[in-house]
Amino acid sequence: LPLTTQLERGGVQIGGCLVSDLVKTYGTPLYLYDAVTLRTHVQTLGELLHKYYPGEGLITYAAKAYFVPALARRLAIWGIGVDVVSLGELRVAQKAGFVPAHIHLHGNNKALEEITLALEMGVQAIVVDSLDELEWVESIAREHGRVARIWLRITPGITAHTHPHIQTAHAQSKFGLYIETGDAMVAIHKARRSPWLDLRGLHTHLGSQIRDPEPYQKAIDALFALAEQADYFPEEFSPGGGWGVRYRPEDPPDDPRPWVQSISESLVAACERRRWPLPRLVIEPGRWLVARAGVAIYRVGTQKRTADGRYIVAVDGGMADNPRVALYGARYVVLPLGYENYEGPLRPSRVVGRFCESGDILIEEVDLPPLRRGDLLIVPVAGAYHLSMASNYNLATRPAVLWLEDGRADLLQPREDPLTSSWWGG
Ligand code: LLP
Repeated sequence: LPLTTQLERGGVQIGGCLVSDLVKTYGTPLYLYDAVTLRTHVQTLGELLHKYYPGEGLITYAAKAYFVPALARRLAIWGIGVDVVSLGELRVAQKAGFVPAHIHLHGNNKALEEITLALEMGVQAIVVDSLDELEWVESIAREHGRVARIWLRITPGITAHTHPHIQTAHAQSKFGLYIETGDAMVAIHKARRSPWLDLRGLHTHLGSQIRDPEPYQKAIDALFALAEQADYFPEEFSPGGGWGVRYRPEDPPDDPRPWVQSISESLVAACERRRWPLPRLVIEPGRWLVARAGVAIYRVGTQKRTADGRYIVAVDGGMADNPRVALYGARYVVLPLGYENYEGPLRPSRVVGRFCESGDILIEEVDLPPLRRGDLLIVPVAGAYHLSMASNYNLATRPAVLWLEDGRADLLQPREDPLTSSWWGG
C-alpha cells in the first residue's frame, strides 16, 4: 500500500484523504496516487545512486508506466529526467518543463516527427535502435543542419527471467542492435565517422519486473567488451530500467538496493579493468517509481456462486483499466474496505471485471469475507502500466485519477465522458 496509508476510525486514509469520501465525490473505478510514496521512491533511488556510484548519475522516469500532463509537471519539478517513446510523451515532457538535456527518445520505429522534434529540442539522446534508423537519423540531422546526439541501444542476447512478453534483450528481440550479428559494432563505427552524429553513449534494456541483478551485470560486461573491441569509450551509459516490485506479500521484497549497487559496482569494475574514466550512469525505472504509489478502487456489483463453491465477485472496472492480468497473468491482492477487523469465515472467491470477455479477471483465486453489493475493494500496486495501457473496450471510459497530498485531492485525469471522449470525436 502507499506509504501514507492509515486506518483511522473513519476508515482507510491515503495521503490524508478518506478513501470513502473520495469515492463519494469522484465515483468508481477510481485511481489514487500518493505524492509521498512517489517522492520517497525518487529520493530513495537518488540516494542509492549517490551512495554506490562514484561518478555522475541520473534517474530518468520511463514515461510509459504512467504519464499525463498533470503528473509530468510534478515530476519535472523534482529534477529527474524522462525516457519517452512517442510524440505524445515527448510533447507532454516538453510542455511539462523537463530539461531537454534530461530527456531521451526511445522506440524501435520512430516517426519522422519524433526525430525532428527531439533534434530541435536538443534532447539528451535519440536512442538509435537499428542500422536502418542510424542512417535515417543521420539524413534528418543533415537536412536540418544540426548534429544529432545519439545513444545506441544494444541487444546483448541475454534472457532475463521474467514473462516472455516483457523480455527485451534476447537474441530474437525486436529491440536494439544485436551484438551477435555484428550490427552493434558496425553502428559504433558508422556513428563515430559521421559528422552529423554525436555518439554519446550505449544503452541496453533487459526487460521488466526483474528481481535478480545478475542479468544487469552480464549486460554491462557484454556492452563494455563490445566498446573495448570497438576502441570506443561511452561517456554516458544506461542499463535501462526493469527492476521489479512486490505485488503480493508472498513476492520477494522490492528493495532496489541490490539493483543500484550491482549496476554501480559492475560499471566501476568494467571501467577500472580498462583504466577508463566513469561514464555518466543513467537508470530508467518506470514500475519501481510509480507502481506502489497507485491504488485502484472498485465497487462490488453482482455476485454468483459456481457449482464447485467459488464466489464470482464482479466489480465495475477490469481489463479496460488493468489489462495486466489478461496479458501477463499478473497477480494482485485485494482489500475489501470496511472489513479491516473482520474475523469471520472467508469464502473462496474470484474477482472479475465487467467487460464482455472471459479473460476479464482481476484476481483468479482469493479468500474474501461475504461481500455485499456496493462494497469497495482496493487493489494496491496499481500505479504502473494500468492506466497507460487502459483501453475503451465496450466504450468504457477511463477512470478518474487523483493526486493525494497533505489531505488534498487534485485531479490527474478527470473521468472520461463517453459522449465527448476525444479519440472517437465526441
Ligand atoms: N527503459 C526502456 C527502454 C523500456 O522499454 C522500459 C519498459 C523501461 C525502461 C522501464 O521498465 P520498468 O522499470 O517499468 O520495468 N507493460 C508491461 C511492462 C512493459 C515495459 C516496457 N518497457 C507490464 O505491465 O508489466
